[in-house]
Amino acid sequence: MTNARPDHTPEYILVGVAWPYASGPRHLGHAAGAYVPPDIFARYQRMIGNHVLMVSGSDMHGTPITVAADKRGITPRQLAEENHAGIAASFERLGLAYDNYTTTLTPTHYRVTQDFFTTLLDKGYLFEATETAMYDPQAKRFLPDRYVEGTCPHCGYEDARGDQCDNCGRTLDPIELIDPRSKITGATPETRETNHFYLDLPKFQTALEAWVGEASVNWRPAVTGFTQGWLKEGLRARAITRDLDWGVPIPLPGYDDKRIYVWFDAVIGYFSATVEWGELRGEPDAWKKWWALDEHGRAPGRMYNFIGKDNVPFHTVIWPAMLMGYGGLALPYDVPANEFLTIDGMKLSSSRMYTARLPFLPEALELFDADAIRFFLTINAPENRDTDFSWDDFQRRNNDELVATYGNAVHRLLSFLQSKYDGVVPTPGDLTDADRAMLATMESTFSEVGNDIDKVKLRDGLRGVMALATALNRYLDDAAPWKTIKTDPERAATSLWTALQVVAALRVLSAPFLPFSAERLHTLLGDEGSVHALPWQPLGLPAGRSLPKPEPLFRKLEDDDLAALLDRLKPTVVDTGEPT
Ligand code: MF3
Ligand code: ZN
Repeated sequence: MTNARPDHTPEYILVGVAWPYASGPRHLGHAAGAYVPPDIFARYQRMIGNHVLMVSGSDMHGTPITVAADKRGITPRQLAEENHAGIAASFERLGLAYDNYTTTLTPTHYRVTQDFFTTLLDKGYLFEATETAMYDPQAKRFLPDRYVEGTCPHCGYEDARGDQCDNCGRTLDPIELIDPRSKITGATPETRETNHFYLDLPKFQTALEAWVGEASVNWRPAVTGFTQGWLKEGLRARAITRDLDWGVPIPLPGYDDKRIYVWFDAVIGYFSATVEWGELRGEPDAWKKWWALDEHGRAPGRMYNFIGKDNVPFHTVIWPAMLMGYGGLALPYDVPANEFLTIDGMKLSSSRMYTARLPFLPEALELFDADAIRFFLTINAPENRDTDFSWDDFQRRNNDELVATYGNAVHRLLSFLQSKYDGVVPTPGDLTDADRAMLATMESTFSEVGNDIDKVKLRDGLRGVMALATALNRYLDDAAPWKTIKTDPERAATSLWTALQVVAALRVLSAPFLPFSAERLHTLLGDEGSVHALPWQPLGLPAGRSLPKPEPLFRKLEDDDLAALLDRLKPTVVDTGEPT
């Protein structure tokens, strides 16, 4: 069941998507960074006939969950399950076509995680040691990770969290924080001794350097740079257990009050979700097709991890080390990490700050079509630098590009066909050079956009699709079939037929990016089945076919719609404490 052309040997492509924390809804920045790009990539890889598996799930453990649950007065499980349901629903509305979107609470995930732990321990890659950790004397408990906040020792940022500084991006240990405070009571933590298991990363230093040297030829420069920086600093062993009661249990007796660290289990999710996918289909060995190295140690295909830039070291250093230690499994081929989508706060007065925020996915999806969101997040994707989100830009690109360029080219053509030809695709006469040039541009767009997507240059890919829509508009302006129909009906018919072939191609080309409107266009072109089952090549529109009455593909975004959304976002006015 592949779309492969005869000359194409299908590849096994695993698309691993970052596991969103089930600590609350995800916002547009998360979608732009980590969730929409892999869907575009996976849809394209399916269309060229590869064996694609796109897996992920909600990251249910860790202090992001327990801190949020404490705040709400519910259990971590309740909180995580509630948020998982919400995230999964938003992802579906956004058209993210996962083969398995699961959670880290499944029996399979627990079993696979504990197997990783035991195997690494048996092979001597884990050791136990005593460390000094933060302890809240009032709450009488340890304060791992996000239970402590304080000043970053590297950049001086005052609200750094115990596991990571959001300002400089460094990963931290809570005891490194300057002026630490407990997130539970606000008290100044004490230090206490506690025992933990460590992943012995220094044992992998040489092997990782060699692997990164080779593998990173496919990586984005920022990903390679960040990774090399980590390796250059020299790897240190990292604790992979925590003093918490929420997480995967340690598979050894006597550790009931400790759990496996969330990052250790979350990255294993790429593998366990693949295993689970096979189990659900009654093929428990299916994972091998994507993961199992052959006898020469070669990977069976290409493994991708789509993430935001704050997750880079976990995917280019720690997870590869875990995989090397475990043995027999494929390492990432590429780790396309995006930069951040940012939104500026606005100063209202010296003491009051209007903190603009990005909308959460449920808010955005209630007001805008999924494809409009996907379009904006991709045409403006933060692939190489942080990108500022602006509502004006969102409105302008939706109205000027999606509606006016693409939507309009299609709509004026289909409407013209309906009114002058009864909706029946005309038979072409002789093609002119202009007709042929238009069709050649259409042909080459497939290879150009395909190459862009395969290299994970999705923004360039979408621009390539839009360039074809622009070229179509220009062709129509020149050919003007609405004029030649009166003077030279055969010429009009030929221009119209040519333009319709381009529209038929646009439906295929846009399918990875704009899955819903591509499907609607497929129906408007009178085709059966799904556009997503088509191969990545022009699919002609035969003369004589009768097309249904057209409808516009996209909606113009009116000022009032935007005002309604901005109103709903209820911007928080923060008192900065400065004198007015
Ligand atoms: N939950 C983490 C976050 O949202 C990402 C985990 S990606 C993983 O930042 F798959 F590696 F777990
Ligand atoms: Zn910092």
